[in-house]
Amino acid sequence: MVAPTPAACHITQHLACRRQIHRATQGRLNRSPTARHVRLDCFVITEQSLKCGDIVECKPIGLVIAAEGGVMVSIREEQQTDHESIDAVIIEAFGNRSEADLVDRLRKSRQLTLSLVAVDDSEVVGHVAFSPVTIHSEGGNRQAIGLGPMAVRPASQRSGIGSELIHCGLDMLRERGDGIVVVLGHPEYYPRFGFERSTKRGIKWEHDAPEEAFMVMELQEGALRGVSGTVR
Ligand SMILES: CC(C)(COP(=O)(O)OP(=O)(O)OC[C@H]1O[C@@H](n2cnc3c(N)ncnc32)[C@H](O)[C@@H]1OP(=O)(O)O)[C@@H](O)C(=O)NCCC(=O)NCCS
Repeated sequence: MVAPTPAACHITQHLACRRQIHRATQGRLNRSPTARHVRLDCFVITEQSLKCGDIVECKPIGLVIAAEGGVMVSIREEQQTDHESIDAVIIEAFGNRSEADLVDRLRKSRQLTLSLVAVDDSEVVGHVAFSPVTIHSEGGNRQAIGLGPMAVRPASQRSGIGSELIHCGLDMLRERGDGIVVVLGHPEYYPRFGFERSTKRGIKWEHDAPEEAFMVMELQEGALRGVSGTVR
């Protein structure tokens, strides 16, 4: 295998090669429990110019991305030793600790479906949490996943780390078989990942929030068909 050359890689090149990998491994991606790690090899694949249908080695290491300026950032699930660093990142990004406390509560109550960190040279620089929610409707309840909180250290923002955390998380949830994700957040940010205003689908949040800030997306085709109601 050819070692990645971070200095030569920018996020746009990396994202392009990731799409190439998804195509190259089509068919294997959905079945492999380690499919998310394919993206690590995508870095290598670009170097080797492998072609469609070639087999890539999947390593359980996490995702490595290249941010602007050639910085290497890896994305992996949180470990126990990350808790303090995650706290620090969230507090720095939000300017207070309410979202950090929320993550802590979710963790303690075993409600963290998925908690991913972005690590730059062994330092946690970004974090995203996913936890279960329920869409209540007259016809019955439907389980979904809530995205958030999500935070990237101010010094590391705008280099694609937040986007990669979301892409990686959504891929992992899709692989697990989850069908629906909701988010309360910036209406200019989340649509780029496939989220749309939830009221378009007849879904609303139980609390008051600007209508455009509560969004929903389906991870499996048709998952939102016939689903409407209130998210709690
Ligand atoms: C939102 C956040 C996680 C994005 O992380 P990031 O690593 O900077 O994100 P990316 O580099 O992938 O994407 C940057 C894009 O996000 C957009 N963005 C960042 N903050 C935004 C905001 N408050 N409203 C709208 N768009 C925002 C930027 O404008 C940029 O858009 P562009 O690509 O068109 O220039 C980060 O800005 C952050 O931690 N903010 C403070 C905490 C927060 O608001 N969390 C999200 C709650 S919904």
